Amino acid sequence: MEKKRTGFIILISLIAALGGLLFGFDTAVISGVVPYIETYFDLSSTQIGWVVSSLILGCIVGVLIAGAPSDKYGRKKVLSTAALLFVISAFGTALSKEISTFVIFRVLGGFAVGIASMISPMYISEIAPAEHRGKLVSLNQLTIVIGILIAFFSNYLLSGVGENNWRWMLVIMAIPAGLFFIAMFFVPESPRWLMVTKQNEKALKVLTRINGEKNAKEEVETIQKALQDDSKPRLKDLLNTNIRKALFVGICLAILQQITGINSIMYYAPMIFKESGLSTSDAILQTVAVGVINLLFTLIAIRFVDKIGRRPLLIYGSMMMAISLLLLSIAFFMNWEGIWKLIFILSFIGAFALSLGPVTWVLIAEIFPNRVRGKAMSVSIVFVWISCFVVSLFFPILCDKIGFGFTFLILSMISVVSFLFNMKFVIETKGKNLEEISI
Ligand code: BGC
Repeated sequence: MEKKRTGFIILISLIAALGGLLFGFDTAVISGVVPYIETYFDLSSTQIGWVVSSLILGCIVGVLIAGAPSDKYGRKKVLSTAALLFVISAFGTALSKEISTFVIFRVLGGFAVGIASMISPMYISEIAPAEHRGKLVSLNQLTIVIGILIAFFSNYLLSGVGENNWRWMLVIMAIPAGLFFIAMFFVPESPRWLMVTKQNEKALKVLTRINGEKNAKEEVETIQKALQDDSKPRLKDLLNTNIRKALFVGICLAILQQITGINSIMYYAPMIFKESGLSTSDAILQTVAVGVINLLFTLIAIRFVDKIGRRPLLIYGSMMMAISLLLLSIAFFMNWEGIWKLIFILSFIGAFALSLGPVTWVLIAEIFPNRVRGKAMSVSIVFVWISCFVVSLFFPILCDKIGFGFTFLILSMISVVSFLFNMKFVIETKGKNLEEISI
């Protein structure tokens, strides 16, 4: 019975985590598409900038609009809507004849990425038993990373299929998105949302399937107690003193995850490798290495997040990130050989995948009370995307103006800030019920 229940929880978490896979795929696919649409649509460099960043702008809007309906209509319906938007965006971009249509459908895809980046971890955190929650929410980071790898491989494989190659690269996303849409019909609604909306019988049924009868009854009581203040959530509630503190932590985690520079590597790896004096074929191999290390260390994080806990992972991870970036910056200043730069980049990626990558999403999904989780997560995650936008916009400009050495030195200092922040503000949440966690 225990085994059967574990299998069921993993299955529904994996289905919800398909949102993460599409998030990873859709953000990464563009790198392979750009070289072809650049010629097809005859794009200027400013237009290319817009093509790449339009998705991120869509994400910001997606996160902002997802919170309220997820509190009102439930997590399931909103995730299904995101799945549908992924399908529409895949076909829309692939069939575009003009750049304006392309950008419109990219923005639509961005809405979907934004929604998925918030509701997938939220849903998983709300159905997961406390002792496995870290692991299960981290599945979402695992699927993001797998999505990035799939995009890379499918771009590589499809680049040789002729002049419509970029259309195939984009439309292929409709397959996992369609599967995601169908699979969502088979997962139960979040028990915590069901209780917030006073559907206690249904919530008990779901919790019984997940935790067994005895635990389910206890959990319903705990959730019930936490919900005693049953006023409707309003944006103003986020300013209550205790929620304000959680919100401060959520927003800072979101910003730090991005401004420590992960996507300067994810989005600009080939440019950095070229600057390190490597040939194009080596650059392809190195991009694969980045993807593989990212995946490997995410798997390790999943193994340890509920054992070691969130705090140590964040603290030691930030420290490793700071050291790796400092060494990388020295390597650029001193003109060390390319292989050293690769080693420091990989150790930075590994440290991120072990810490800020998964744990940020885990904590943002855990630290808010049930009643305001939708709105509070949306406010925090919007900062993920705003910061992502700023970094991806300014990284190349910074490298151009002050050089790679100084740019990575700045990023290293920001990792030190992340280390200090985690030491001072992050509390341990492993093993606790969502209702027991209060910042
Ligand atoms: C971040 C993404 C990043 C990815 C890399 C995620 O946690 O939110 O911005 O591209 O990790 O693995």
